[in-house]
Amino acid sequence: HGLIFLLGVSTLYLQVGGKEDNKYDNYTLIKLYPNTKSQLEALREIENGVPKIDILKRSRNLNDTTDILLNPEQLTEIKHFVKKEGITYDIKDNYGRSFEAVERSPRRRVFRSFNVFEYHSYGAMQEHLEMLAKMHPDLLKLATLGSSYQGRRMKLAKISLNPNANNPIIFIDGGIHAREWVAPAMAMYLIHRLVSDPEATHELNGVDWYILPVVNPDGYEFTRTSRTNRLWRKTRSKNALLDCFGVDGNRNFGFKWAVSGVSKNPCDKETYAGPKPFSEPETQMVRNVMITYGKRIKLYVSLHSYGQYLVYPWGYTGEFLPKEWQKLHSLAKMVSDAVEKAGGQPFRVMSAGKWYPAAGGSDDFAFGAIGVPYSYTMELTDGYEFLFPERLLHTVLPQFYEGFKVFGAQIRNEF
Ligand code: ARG
Ligand code: ZN
Repeated sequence: HGLIFLLGVSTLYLQVGGKEDNKYDNYTLIKLYPNTKSQLEALREIENGVPKIDILKRSRNLNDTTDILLNPEQLTEIKHFVKKEGITYDIKDNYGRSFEAVERSPRRRVFRSFNVFEYHSYGAMQEHLEMLAKMHPDLLKLATLGSSYQGRRMKLAKISLNPNANNPIIFIDGGIHAREWVAPAMAMYLIHRLVSDPEATHELNGVDWYILPVVNPDGYEFTRTSRTNRLWRKTRSKNALLDCFGVDGNRNFGFKWAVSGVSKNPCDKETYAGPKPFSEPETQMVRNVMITYGKRIKLYVSLHSYGQYLVYPWGYTGEFLPKEWQKLHSLAKMVSDAVEKAGGQPFRVMSAGKWYPAAGGSDDFAFGAIGVPYSYTMELTDGYEFLFPERLLHTVLPQFYEGFKVFGAQIRNEF
């Protein structure tokens, strides 16, 4: 009796006080490997039929996994289903415990220069941009776009050798999804290379690079404040009617808004499309950049993670492709080849809708509403889900950069 009593008390203690509780601690990540078309169909049943499970990555392809984060009860249920369907799977338990170990590295800079191969706070990134703009006043200009829902000022980095030349523009953004930390890191790395690598004059010749590293700063900071919030995806706006927060920025763009792959429930953790198109100040700012520079923008790339996909419109449907799809496809292949040649993983290249249809994405808006001829969503990295380790940034970011050189060359040569 004594032992049982003691166990009871210690459990209670852990729940009430002591260390920060992370509800994900006892969650399990399950990676499903469908081998047949009918198993793929069965996975769709899970996607559509099981409420409240956290699907980290969807896939409608045979050569890719569907990744789901499950609490112990859900795990029992899904395991049963998966075994019945004969679907192969892999498991990572105690998933939430990996958050701290990987992300909260103790060595935070105090009086050290900004290390591009580390994850930084939004404030540190902004400070660094200001510093770069002071160091390279004729190359880099910061244009204030407005403020996020919680009031964080957002600035577009405009990099140009000759701002008056009306060069074609490459517009790149990152971090519309809060938890995808490698995306802002890549955007900052791009800026760093373009302004401080002497060889980058080649990339800048005849092409202007406009980069917005963190589209969703409120969400980004939210994922940094506690382990419990590490997997937040949406913005942080408060719903007018319900006590729920956030809109999926990449379902909020006003082109074929909400026709597929969205949730209409403001309390849904992942894909709530918002009360109306462009309900969020953050997506409005991306739209405004696109409208302001309009036809000068020849390439748009939205940086995300993960899965190592490079996808192009349409995203709202997998039923058909735009008539220009072959150009979109072949440039993506060239980019992927360059990354592979640099030692990186190749990208899976296809239309976003063939991967899985979802409407209201920025890529479709750029392509369909603005007429940007090359428009992509780039899902950086694979194998670590949203927790890409900081210690590996120094290998992958330069590899991805080789892909951006190919993008640059194409835009310079074609326009
Ligand atoms: N992972 C991205 C998302 O879910 C993919 C977006 C692709 N583009 C699209 N229009 N569906 O937002
Ligand atoms: Zn994303």
